[in-house]
Amino acid sequence: MLTEKQIKILIVVGLFLMEIFVWTANAYIEFVGIGNSSVAIIGGADGPTAIFVAGAEHQSEDDKTITEEEPQLPPPSEQPVSEQEPEENEAAFSQADKTNLLILVNKKNPVDKNYKPDDLKEIKYFAADRSPETRFLRAEAADAFNLMVEKAAEEDLEFKMTTAYRSFGFQKILYDNYVAQQGEEAANKFSAKPGQSEHQTGLAVDVSSPSVDFQLTNEYGETKEGKWLAAHAYEYGFIIRFPKGKEDVTGYQYEPWHLRYVGLTAAKEIYDSNLTLEEYLQENNL
Ligand code: DAL
Ligand code: ZN
Repeated sequence: MLTEKQIKILIVVGLFLMEIFVWTANAYIEFVGIGNSSVAIIGGADGPTAIFVAGAEHQSEDDKTITEEEPQLPPPSEQPVSEQEPEENEAAFSQADKTNLLILVNKKNPVDKNYKPDDLKEIKYFAADRSPETRFLRAEAADAFNLMVEKAAEEDLEFKMTTAYRSFGFQKILYDNYVAQQGEEAANKFSAKPGQSEHQTGLAVDVSSPSVDFQLTNEYGETKEGKWLAAHAYEYGFIIRFPKGKEDVTGYQYEPWHLRYVGLTAAKEIYDSNLTLEEYLQENNL
C-alpha cells in the first residue's frame, strides 16, 4: 500500500506530465501551422482519450480527426451599409463571397441534387398552413428575415414566409405538379426544375401578407407590403430576385414575393444599380 506522502507525490508528478503533454501538443500544432487554436483534452485518470482543436483555420490531409469550427458570420443589419467604411464594405463583400451568400443558381447554373446547407435555422414568422419542412433559411438569412419582419411590424405591416428552404425532392413535387396542371412551357416561366431553384440554397424566401390572403400573386407588388419590400428589403440584405422587365435575364416572370438573401453590401449595390443578381455578378467578375 502507498503512503499518503507517496500518493501526493504521484499526483504532483501526474499533473506535471499532463502539463508537459498539453504544452507539447500546442507547440506541435503551432509548428504544423494551425493558428488561433486551443487544445482541449478529453480524458480521465487513464490518460487523454481525445484531442479537439477549436478554431482551426486550415487542415492538412493528415488532420482529418481535427474538428473545424463554423465560420463566424457578421450579424446582419448591425449597421447601415451606407455608414460603413469602404474597407468594411470590401470585407463584408469578401465575407459574403467566402460564405457562399452570392451563389448563383438558375436555369444555367444548377445546384447538386444532394446539396443542403448545414446552417439552416427555423424562421420565426411563417404562414402556419404551409409545409413546416420549408420553414428554414441559412442562419444569417433567417436572422435578417426575422429582423425585417419585426421592423416592418413597427410600421403596422405584416409579413410571413410561405416557403423558404426547399429540398431537391420538395421542388420536384412542386414542379411536377405545376407541369401536370399547366403544362411544361407555362410551368417553366414561374417554377424552377428541381436542382435549378435557389430555394435549395436556403437563401431564398417567398413572402406574403394578409392583404392578399397570403397568396403568391403579382398584385402583391401593388400592395403597401409589396411596395415596402421593394423599397426596404435591401436594408436587411435581401433583393427582389425576379424583377419586372428582367425576365430574359433571370429566366422567370416577375415575382414580387420572392426574396433572395445576398448580404447587406451586395443587396444595397444591387438595389442602387437596378441590376439582377446575374448582371451584378458578371459586372463584378464573380
Ligand atoms: N419560383 C422560383 C423561380 C423557383 O421555383 O425557384
Ligand atoms: Zn420563391
